[in-house]
Amino acid sequence: MSKIIIGCDHAGFELKNILIDFLKSKNIEVTDNGCYSKEPADYPVIAQDTAKKVASGEFDKGILICGTGVGMSIAANKIKGIRAVVCSDTTSAKFSRLHNNTNILCLGQRIVGEYCAKDICEIWLNSKFEGERHLKRINLIEPISHS
Ligand code: RB5
Repeated sequence: MSKIIIGCDHAGFELKNILIDFLKSKNIEVTDNGCYSKEPADYPVIAQDTAKKVASGEFDKGILICGTGVGMSIAANKIKGIRAVVCSDTTSAKFSRLHNNTNILCLGQRIVGEYCAKDICEIWLNSKFEGERHLKRINLIEPISHS
């Protein structure tokens, strides 16, 4: 069973709580990494802390939510070993797993509705990396992002 960590800033707080309940209803183990209220919170802080916990192997995958998902994805992708994708459609979510082996999903509470976000999460979590030619390509990413 995959261990999932989820984080948000103030602009993603409500969707985070909805997704925690959704994942628990599917018997998916999820750890809430904050923030814990709608008080203003800086997304880079949450993104960095959550992404490090995925990169270290403490968690298998992460979900990060802010207003658009964009800030979270930019910040999370600064962490070595993280491949974060911001999605507002299920096809991108699926292929980001199949081809890019993404390990963090970023969502925008101001962009996607609750039902769309649940579908994106479910498809992202259930899609498996295809490896082979795609492995060679994602291995070419790391030296670029940390050079
Ligand atoms: C907060 O207002 C907003 O800027 C943040 O949640 C996020 O959308 C940034 O990318």
